Amino acid sequence: MSANTLFNDSTVVLGIETSCDETAAAVVMGGNDVLSSVVATQIDLHARYGGVVPEIASRAHVEAMNVVIRQAISQSGVPIERIDAVAATVGPGLIGALLVGVAAAKSVALVLDKPFIGVNHLEAHLYAALLDDPHVEFPMLVVLVSGGNTLFVEMRGHGDFSVIGQTIDDAAGEAFDKVARFLDLGHPGGPAIDRIALAGNAKAIEFPRAMMHDGLDVSFSGLKTSVINYVRKNPTVSTADVAASFQYAVVDVLAAKARKAAQQIGAKTVALGGGVAANSLLRSTMTTLCAESGWRLVLPSMGMCTDNAAMIASAGWYRLVADGPSSMDMGAMPNLKLT
Ligand code: KG4
Repeated sequence: MSANTLFNDSTVVLGIETSCDETAAAVVMGGNDVLSSVVATQIDLHARYGGVVPEIASRAHVEAMNVVIRQAISQSGVPIERIDAVAATVGPGLIGALLVGVAAAKSVALVLDKPFIGVNHLEAHLYAALLDDPHVEFPMLVVLVSGGNTLFVEMRGHGDFSVIGQTIDDAAGEAFDKVARFLDLGHPGGPAIDRIALAGNAKAIEFPRAMMHDGLDVSFSGLKTSVINYVRKNPTVSTADVAASFQYAVVDVLAAKARKAAQQIGAKTVALGGGVAANSLLRSTMTTLCAESGWRLVLPSMGMCTDNAAMIASAGWYRLVADGPSSMDMGAMPNLKLT
């Protein structure tokens, strides 16, 4: 990364996140010092539909945006004039939802006469783990597991990364959500399965682990179908056993691929990111794996696993220091990739 001397450790960034169903704003100084982080979740609004409804999400973002930004600034304790730049998620995500945050960030930036920074939501997830633990040694493997993505990312330094493995179909979180919906456990499915699995036997049912010996890519679509077929054939099976066995299969695959990826890149550090990083079995399995293999594990705090704006402000700060501000012409990019 090239140094941009205008921006440094005392640079204060207001971050805004609206890519899916959380309206969030945060104030972060110097990339890692979180002065405030406010998240207004829409989970209850979408729960009755069993998934996120884009139109409802956009409208809810519009209603919450100003309040959330005001709260983030007042809770940070810094005067509004002290904000040096405004960062917002430009993608990937729901187009209507993204537009609300991008428009809000540009408006604040214009009013304050400060630069705007467009942030890739996936890049921000890479930085979420580092917010709690910024002094990591590279190369680092980031296992990014969310509702929309499952990526194994080699990070050689700040802003210097490549995707070395990914899902070829469903994301890990998507598999949790779909299986939970089938089992009638509600939305979002990940936390519900995590909870009920505590009462089940993870070895009760041997669900398939796809692509275990094929490089670093993963596949969860067949596992989801296998759970559905098993429950249809065995309607009296314990839901807790199904949930625990399914969760064990997902974590088994993620841990095996993480081990292979970390060995391949000669990782010094392994970090988890994304909503599924909150999963208790994944956290404990990765803790054991990294302790045995001598890799330092960076686990994001629970609040930093799911969508938040502190990670947007943090990634925005690193981009600002490396590349300077984004153009005001930069718009929302719903299909943005991690490149
Ligand atoms: O990162 P995130 O908040 O949103 C994006 O997809 O960007 O991740 C949400 C996903 C959902 O699929 C949710 O079911 C999953 O993370 N999740 C979990 C847990 N908590 C959230 N999956 C497994 N176990 C959990 N404890």
